[in-house]
Amino acid sequence: MNTAPPSRSPTDCKAWGQLLHHAESWRGVHLSQLFEGDVARRLQYVAEAPGVRYDYSRQRVGAITLRLLSNLASERGLPAWRDALLSGQVVNNTENRPAWHSALRAGSSAPPEVKETLSKIKRLTGKIRSEKIFKRIVNLGTGGSDLGPRLLVDALAPMGEAGALEVRFAANADPLDLQRALQGADPASTLFIVVSKTFTTQETMSNAAEAKRWGGKHFITVSSNTEEANRFGAMEVLPMWDWVGGRFSVWSAVGLAAACAMGFENFEDFLKGAKDVDGHFAQMPLEKNLPVLMALIGIWNTNFLGATTHAVLPYSSALRLLPAYLQQLEMESNGKRVDREGREIEYSTSPVVWGMEGTASQHSFHQLLHQGTQTVPVDFIDISSDEILSANLRAQAEALMLGTTDRSLPPYKQHPGNRPSSTLRLEKLDARNLGRLLALYEHKVFTQGVIWNIDSFDQWGVELGKELAKKILKGDR
Ligand code: F6P
Repeated sequence: MNTAPPSRSPTDCKAWGQLLHHAESWRGVHLSQLFEGDVARRLQYVAEAPGVRYDYSRQRVGAITLRLLSNLASERGLPAWRDALLSGQVVNNTENRPAWHSALRAGSSAPPEVKETLSKIKRLTGKIRSEKIFKRIVNLGTGGSDLGPRLLVDALAPMGEAGALEVRFAANADPLDLQRALQGADPASTLFIVVSKTFTTQETMSNAAEAKRWGGKHFITVSSNTEEANRFGAMEVLPMWDWVGGRFSVWSAVGLAAACAMGFENFEDFLKGAKDVDGHFAQMPLEKNLPVLMALIGIWNTNFLGATTHAVLPYSSALRLLPAYLQQLEMESNGKRVDREGREIEYSTSPVVWGMEGTASQHSFHQLLHQGTQTVPVDFIDISSDEILSANLRAQAEALMLGTTDRSLPPYKQHPGNRPSSTLRLEKLDARNLGRLLALYEHKVFTQGVIWNIDSFDQWGVELGKELAKKILKGDR
């Protein structure tokens, strides 16, 4: 897909220049003034997608900012790129592949191989859950073959249910990780799911080999390298496809461990949630399109207001692993320094994404958020009906925005405020809404990649370290 004319960098777009100029007009404007001068702001700067409400009223944006950002997206050809993504055209140019993760959750319009694999997941999940032969499942995988199912299990699997399957994960090259996952387990009642798209990843292969040495007897593999996965010798080999990137693969058989933990119906709901958001992304005009707004606000903060990091703070213990999941999604996708034409980029791309569950985060790094020398835009994730949690989330967002107004306070007690944040509010935390939330971030990441003119679906930056580690191990260095 080559929708943008090759020579065009985002900085050549008319809207980019206008945004640079417009950013100047924001100097000296304090967020608190915006609220004072516009009582409707809280209602105006809000967008909705199924099950999710996005409140960006505490961002340093106004009507002109949003119009210019939306013009930038149009100038960069976003609608055509979006259609190409969702229809399975090649958008990963360096690997000449589609990035068709939306097909994994397309329901009745999914490709036959996806439907067939979903049937297998359903059969396996039902069998594993009803037969109760396995007491423990250990997922062996790393990166995209680990973070998604791990997040799902942590967020949605029932806690402490009598006889419930225990699902553990080992992702690290450090043998301790697998040892911990196997603590108290018995080979006869332990099922290993070895997940690796390439089936060559060192950590996963060595953990799988160690699982066999430990006496593991029951293995399922999930891979696009069918030859190697078959050679490994497993009771079932489930496919992955070249056209799904690892960090976008939780919707496939990569999610098997999670499907076993939460039941196939919940897994299906998770897919349905993502499908809801695919529909929203495909159809809504740019100004009301929630992932597009999330992306544009990120671009505004990074490229025009100078933010270098972005914090994600879920006010929910169930979502404590969300920041780690998003770190891979955002930074492996958009941490790039050359554009689609191979030219070195002179503007910032992905910020450093980080975060932690609130309220615990408040007692760790919020000091820096409120009074540090850098401005860190925040995404608050709000799902709770718990009074204390909700009050704390709101208090943090308000404090970041307003700061202190009492000038008689000593300097160390003053908060400058004017620090932007958005709040994503889910009606409740269930499989469908989690699917929606993850799909929103996926499309945000893609949209930013289109605007930055980078390929969000490759990850060449991880290769050099892998090769050198192999050489060092062989004694060649
Ligand atoms: O090293 C990075 C990476 O390739 C990620 O993109 C991927 O999610 C992870 O490693 C695991 O890869 P695989 O599923 O092939 O083992």
